[in-house]
Amino acid sequence: MFNVIKKEILNQSVKRMVITAPDIANKVLPGQFVVIRINEEGERIPLTVASCNKKKGIISIIFQEVGFTTRKLGRLKEGDAILDILGPLGHAAEIKKYGKVVCVAGGVGVAEVIPVADALQRAHNKVIGIIGARTKELIILEKEMRLFSDELYIATNDGSYGQEGLVTDVLRSILEQKIDLVYAIGPVPMMEAVANLTRDYKIKTIVSLNPVMVDGTGMCGSCRVSVGGETKFCCVDGPDFDGHSVDFRELAERLKLFNNQESEMSAR
Ligand SMILES: Cc1cc2nc3c(=O)[nH]c(=O)nc-3n(C[C@H](O)[C@H](O)[C@H](O)COP(=O)(O)OP(=O)(O)OC[C@H]3O[C@@H](n4cnc5c(N)ncnc54)[C@H](O)[C@@H]3O)c2cc1C
Ligand code: FES
Repeated sequence: MFNVIKKEILNQSVKRMVITAPDIANKVLPGQFVVIRINEEGERIPLTVASCNKKKGIISIIFQEVGFTTRKLGRLKEGDAILDILGPLGHAAEIKKYGKVVCVAGGVGVAEVIPVADALQRAHNKVIGIIGARTKELIILEKEMRLFSDELYIATNDGSYGQEGLVTDVLRSILEQKIDLVYAIGPVPMMEAVANLTRDYKIKTIVSLNPVMVDGTGMCGSCRVSVGGETKFCCVDGPDFDGHSVDFRELAERLKLFNNQESEMSAR
């Protein structure tokens, strides 16, 4: 059993939970994720490990309540237990000295980019962070992101905080400088827009994909994605891929596959 030892509300739909998971805390690397099953009847959902403390044997997850399981997870209280947490899964982000790196994140993607930005900064890269949300109230983890960025830019769609517009609007102005790597995490249309923008500048771009996952171990095929014309399984081959080679249209279509079942579950 994995115990919830701290729960925090980051905005109206995003929560952070600190959980005891000593084996995972001991091994997890930036960019890796876990698959969580709350109880016997529960479905499995993948969540990125947002932070870990090996000494204390704890990890944190940050999740947006978008459907049945994330809402159920959000209802757990401090002291409650989670039945299974499988991980760490997936390949870690490739951390090395690139030079100047832009880390772009939208919505809850900020939670997922933070461990990567931290590791890239420790590897002596200059990290430029760009985070965005629809409105000021939805911006999360600004303080943490500031800590791991040499420069931080914020964009809100309605202009209520930072620059008005999308994270890609900020990115476009930054790309006039020499950039060695762009790392993007967020909604599929955002990652696609980032990749389209950087393609013209020939800047290596890594995206962290979020297809539907079930087992997280390469067996079920649900996380199939097409990258450079080849079939990949995001759970074992990813989650990070070359953004210029990902078939984002297919990914967006496949994310809708279970919409009917998900709406039925959410209505319960
Ligand atoms: C590697 C990886 C890391 C992720 N990390 C985070 C994170 O740190 N924080 C966070 O908030 N979200 C993260 N996600 C997305 C998260 O897994 C989904 O939001 C969650 O599974 C939704 O489950 P639900 O039952 O609440 O919603 P549902 O009602 O089932 O679905 C709502 C939406 O979530 C998508 N979804 C449903 N089931 C899955 C699934 N098993 N895997 C992936 N997407 C699914 C659907 O396409 C749907 O659009 C990650 C996804 C992946 C693949
Ligand atoms: S989640 Fe089943 S193959 Fe990747």
